Amino acid sequence: MKVLVLNGPNLGRLGTREPSVYGSTSYADLVALCEQAGRDLGVEVEVRQTDHEGEMVGWLHEAADASWPVVLNAGAWTHYSIAVRDAASQLTADLVELHISNVHKREPFRHTSYLSDIATAVMAGLGVAGYPLAIRWLAEKPGR
Ligand code: DQA
Repeated sequence: MKVLVLNGPNLGRLGTREPSVYGSTSYADLVALCEQAGRDLGVEVEVRQTDHEGEMVGWLHEAADASWPVVLNAGAWTHYSIAVRDAASQLTADLVELHISNVHKREPFRHTSYLSDIATAVMAGLGVAGYPLAIRWLAEKPGR
């Protein structure tokens, strides 16, 4: 089994980007955290990040065709991208929508998600620690 961890715009700047909101873990450290979770659990984990919506759409198509479960932090696209939603709707395995911050405690525009109603599960507010938890949940889900 392979878990694809997809990150949208600005998430490559983790560590320097608004550390009071997103913490001080760098994007490289986040990748290492996810890969370590994969090794601990015996599943392949691939982590990607893009600032380009079309690239994200293509990765979701790839995951749909391969039946890979996806952990998706779509960043700002969460709140307005019908294109990312339409691509995520085609997934053929589980989708975990993830946010580092608790979006519900933040500005009202972050309370809207175009993903939550098509996701298997939603995680928000656990910091980067949410990623290995999501990977663990997918890896240990009965039936896998
Ligand atoms: C985010 C929350 C979004 O509102 C924001 O646009 C992001 C990151 C989070 O991980 O908390 O880029 O998805």
